[in-house]
Amino acid sequence: MVIILVGGQWGDEGKGKVIDYLAAKADMVIRSQGGNNAGHTVITEHGEFKFQLMPSGILYPKCVCIIGNGVVVDPIVLLREISQLRERGIEPKNLIISERAHMVMSYHPLLDQLEEDTRGDDRLGTTWRGIGPAYADKVRRIGFRIGDLQKEAFMRKKLAFVVGQVKNPILTKLYEKEAIDLGSMATEYMGYAKQLDPYIKDTFPIIQDALDRKSNILLEGAQATMLDLDFGTYPYVTSSNPTAGGALTGSGIPPTKVDLTLGVFKAYTSRVGYGPFPSELLDEVGEQIRERGHEFGTVTGRPRRIGWFDSAVARYSARLNGVGCAALMRLDILDEQPLLKICTGYDFRGKRFDHPVANISHYKHSKPIYEEMAGWQTDIGAARKWEDLPQKCRDYIERIGELIGVPIELIGTGPRRDQFVTRGRKLFD
Ligand code: IMP
Ligand code: MG
Repeated sequence: MVIILVGGQWGDEGKGKVIDYLAAKADMVIRSQGGNNAGHTVITEHGEFKFQLMPSGILYPKCVCIIGNGVVVDPIVLLREISQLRERGIEPKNLIISERAHMVMSYHPLLDQLEEDTRGDDRLGTTWRGIGPAYADKVRRIGFRIGDLQKEAFMRKKLAFVVGQVKNPILTKLYEKEAIDLGSMATEYMGYAKQLDPYIKDTFPIIQDALDRKSNILLEGAQATMLDLDFGTYPYVTSSNPTAGGALTGSGIPPTKVDLTLGVFKAYTSRVGYGPFPSELLDEVGEQIRERGHEFGTVTGRPRRIGWFDSAVARYSARLNGVGCAALMRLDILDEQPLLKICTGYDFRGKRFDHPVANISHYKHSKPIYEEMAGWQTDIGAARKWEDLPQKCRDYIERIGELIGVPIELIGTGPRRDQFVTRGRKLFD
């Protein structure tokens, strides 16, 4: 069975926990886009793990974990994650990196930051991890693939062109920065090559074999639908396609092999970085949710912007990705709220819209239309079954399911592995 997991809002929906839940039964977990702009938190009996590049199935030794061709890999960050796992007694023998995956090179984070500075007030609020510049170079065909590390002469020649002819002139002439020393950069990358060599493989036959064997394969999405390069709030988006289509091109799995797209949503909304966010809460309710939910970025530590659940966004995501069932996470963060609002659409110049419109300036000025529900004001952290949840909480979940048009099968009631309410649907046998 093949399941695609997608984020249904602006990221940080609680995907890490759902991935960990599914990975227990998965034979293979594949990351297919993004890079170390992602931060997936998994809490196990051995403590808290924060993964940026490492597929979240890595804690299950029998699960093959693939960093797919669509990911951009910063070798420095990946090596750090490998050694952090080793320090905690976990040897990532089950890790495979696609030869085709591109690298975030040392100049990419620098250029990311410089480009953001140049934008001034119009900056995007990127994570400064070099993700945009790395994908741009991939499209420009001057990117370095992980497999290039295994070809020293080729790598040196390509560095001379890309760094010597393209990047250094930009750094020195445009930004008045120091030029990169070619010799030391080549030596540095040959060092990474040696350490990453055992993990680098052509993943085509590996994934095809797994499909032939009818393995349980999980495509682990990073970022989210509203950050999608094409369908998100462009240009306030990430530089990859975190939607279901991106999972396929980023891994090499054909569409006809996918059994289910699982959408992960959070019981409210959050967003890091700039860009439109109609249901944003700029009052003390937003502040309370941010504090209770520890809503500060895993990667950058920035406070996340908080808002009410936006079913217009969620329904758009559900339809765009063909979501078959949903996980609704972090319900417990709303435990203390007396009144909950759900944004069901927008008013733009007197006209009603039920989905985020493509025109970004119209979307920016769209006013949320709310319906209100009573909060449950009960601690739900111990709930394990649907019946354990207070009636008002069940009403809120059911209403969201109805508005977005998909059944909600998994409900997150706290950060721990066991704090889940499941509703009977079998995901992986
Ligand atoms: P970039 O991906 O670093 O280029 O950042 C582009 C936008 O996507 C910024 O608003 C980031 O805050 C946001 N972003 C990127 N990755 C994540 C994520 O994993 N969770 C939430 N927001 C993200
Ligand atoms: Mg995150």
